[in-house]
Amino acid sequence: MVKFTQVLRIPMDKSSLDPSLAELLKKLQQKYAVMGQDLSSYLDGLLHADYLTYWDYIHLDTLLSLQNPKTQFPDEKVFIVYHQITELYFNLILWELEQIAAKENMDEKFFIERTTRIVRYFQLLESSFTVMVDGMEKEQFLKFRMSLLPASGFQSAQYRLIEICCTDMINLVSLGMRESLQEYSDLEQQVEHLYWRSGATELASGKKTLTLQQFEEKYLKLFNETGMRFRNKNLRKLYQNHFPNSEPAKQLLRQLDQLANVLWPLAHLKSAGRYLQRDPEDIKATGGTNWQKYLPPRFQRIQFFPELWSPAETEEWGKAGVLNALGR
Ligand code: HEM
Repeated sequence: MVKFTQVLRIPMDKSSLDPSLAELLKKLQQKYAVMGQDLSSYLDGLLHADYLTYWDYIHLDTLLSLQNPKTQFPDEKVFIVYHQITELYFNLILWELEQIAAKENMDEKFFIERTTRIVRYFQLLESSFTVMVDGMEKEQFLKFRMSLLPASGFQSAQYRLIEICCTDMINLVSLGMRESLQEYSDLEQQVEHLYWRSGATELASGKKTLTLQQFEEKYLKLFNETGMRFRNKNLRKLYQNHFPNSEPAKQLLRQLDQLANVLWPLAHLKSAGRYLQRDPEDIKATGGTNWQKYLPPRFQRIQFFPELWSPAETEEWGKAGVLNALGR
């Protein structure tokens, strides 16, 4: 077999080789030479390589092998797939937050473009939540959920990471402790009092739910590290340091705050309302929280950018839609 090596060594008739191709080969040769590599060997490899297919590129077979229901109820598939879709969007949001944080010479155009992408992902997540609220049979849901104990969306690490990358840790501290822990107090101390840790801890006994215990065991170290890493480059800090007077940035961050901390939580709450609300006593959450007191955004009052809201707006945080979401 004739190797590319040989072909390349043959003085080429200039008229037979497209000059742009020759130029490309030259550039490729330079690229590989820098790393001490021989381009001809790589071209040989290319000669024998298969063409890329769509299904291999997106790993379709692997992707479609990741839905493994625990029960025979067909709607459990809807439940699994929609959680996976949400986690993929969470992943894209984190991808943008990482890029914003890594940007050297930050400029307003970049900040706004990338934050707009995050807003768009949250909009899609909010509007698509009807897949959960209206897209499963209640009877099936109430049965298959019992096979999932004590797993809960509460254990979504990416959701927690998004929070940590968007704001300062103090804004994620439970409402009762937020004022007493100063903005510049020890980060670990703030992590100690994160709102979701309090939400899954029995106040009287201090006993943590199993869902929380397992979650902390797996991820708490990562949350502490990420908090440290994003201490000076979370979205709020970057806004404050670079564009504190930008009206477009301000409006966009207000939109993000509302989507992430009111509208998505309300869409989510609506699903709890649909499946878990029952008179006289509500059905318990799989993660063991008192979900009626934990999930409504007005109780946690999480704001990534508290300085962008007036006291009246803060006071009303999440209130308008709560009764509506619960269908009361
Ligand atoms: C029928 C659908 C759903 C119901 C009934 C439901 C119910 C609940 C309940 C009761 C909680 C409180 C924690 C607990 O004790 O378990 C919770 C938390 C949570 N769920 Fe869901 N959920 C549903 C769908 C989803 C989906 C699709 C996601 C997407 C990943 C998700 C993500 C979360 C997150 C992130 C939390 C923690 C919220 C926070 O800490 O503020 N849930 N869910």
